[in-house]
Amino acid sequence: MEKRTLGRTGRDVGVVGLGAWQLGADWGDVEESDAIAVLETALESGVTFIDTADAYGDGRSERIIGRLLKEHPDAGVTVATKMGRRVEQVPENYSRENFRAWTDRSRRNLGVDTLDLVQLHCPPTPVYEQDDVFDALDGLVEDGRIAAYGVSVETVAEALRAIERPNVATVQIIVNCFRQKPLGQVLPAARKAGVGIIARVPLASGLLSGKYDEHTTFGEDDHRNYNRTGGAFDVGETFAGVPFEVGLQAVAELKGLLRPDEAMAGFAIRWIVDQPGVSVVIPGARNPEQARSNAAAATAPPLTDEQLAGVREVYDRLVRPHVHDRW
Ligand SMILES: NC(=O)c1ccc[n+]([C@@H]2O[C@H](COP(=O)([O-])OP(=O)(O)OC[C@H]3O[C@@H](n4cnc5c(N)ncnc54)[C@H](OP(=O)(O)O)[C@@H]3O)[C@@H](O)[C@H]2O)c1
Repeated sequence: MEKRTLGRTGRDVGVVGLGAWQLGADWGDVEESDAIAVLETALESGVTFIDTADAYGDGRSERIIGRLLKEHPDAGVTVATKMGRRVEQVPENYSRENFRAWTDRSRRNLGVDTLDLVQLHCPPTPVYEQDDVFDALDGLVEDGRIAAYGVSVETVAEALRAIERPNVATVQIIVNCFRQKPLGQVLPAARKAGVGIIARVPLASGLLSGKYDEHTTFGEDDHRNYNRTGGAFDVGETFAGVPFEVGLQAVAELKGLLRPDEAMAGFAIRWIVDQPGVSVVIPGARNPEQARSNAAAATAPPLTDEQLAGVREVYDRLVRPHVHDRW
């Protein structure tokens, strides 16, 4: 798999990684044996970057990844975790003391002395302006608790602010066929600054796999059911903030751009891989087959100019009014 340097971490990672939110089983069941099978398959498919968080399954996702690391100590996997979402979302909670306690817990969960990369997990916007927060993060690096830090952001404005911070190694942001605004300023700014871009929610929570229709339903404990209007967290994390019916129509049109041998999910991931400035794409996978086919997008042929123009046109006409000015 093609490797790219992950911003200021200086590490090289396979361009398609794995998102491990599902493995926490916060939304929909994933048995531990299935979670391990997803991770093993991702590794076999060339994945060397895994994204998790201390909040996913309240540590379950980290602990399962810890098991994988123990069984494959020489696999060269980079694990990015996140912190900050297990407490009330107020700036005061982003303190040196909490950072120490949170990273200690993640180190235990993952079974490592030094965390490869820790990201603030979509912190409240005022946190971006607090120098003491970033000084405390620098302190974690100096102490050897973490090798590098980054920020997972909700908006383009937050991404640009994070990129300005001198020691932010990576920015994680939603970039996909339905979220094209970061192409304008964020990706060029990140490239210029040498900040890595981790592209999350690449399939718009599965919409861009093309497998749903107007009859599809999701479980009661699935955010694609309970967070459709943003009842639990930022609505932009569910279907990338695109109303489900609008997304179905847009995907139906994108399918018209596929070559005969192309699958919609692979096409959508490849589109992100081809955007200059993206370091790694992190599709979530619920089973080994999804993990395998998502990793294969790294070696698929690039999209043609006609396909790229088609994705742009569908975005501008159908999706843009719902997302562009919001995130
Ligand atoms: N605030 C944050 O920092 C934040 C927020 C959200 C996500 N993330 C990160 O981003 C990662 C990815 O996000 P995500 O999982 O929410 O969204 P996603 O990657 O856009 O979508 C994942 C869903 O797409 C479907 N899918 C995946 N591969 C497929 C394939 N090959 N064929 C058909 N369907 C496929 C599955 O749906 P089914 O379940 O229906 O099979 C899966 O649950 C997360 O794991 C997490 O690491 C971070």
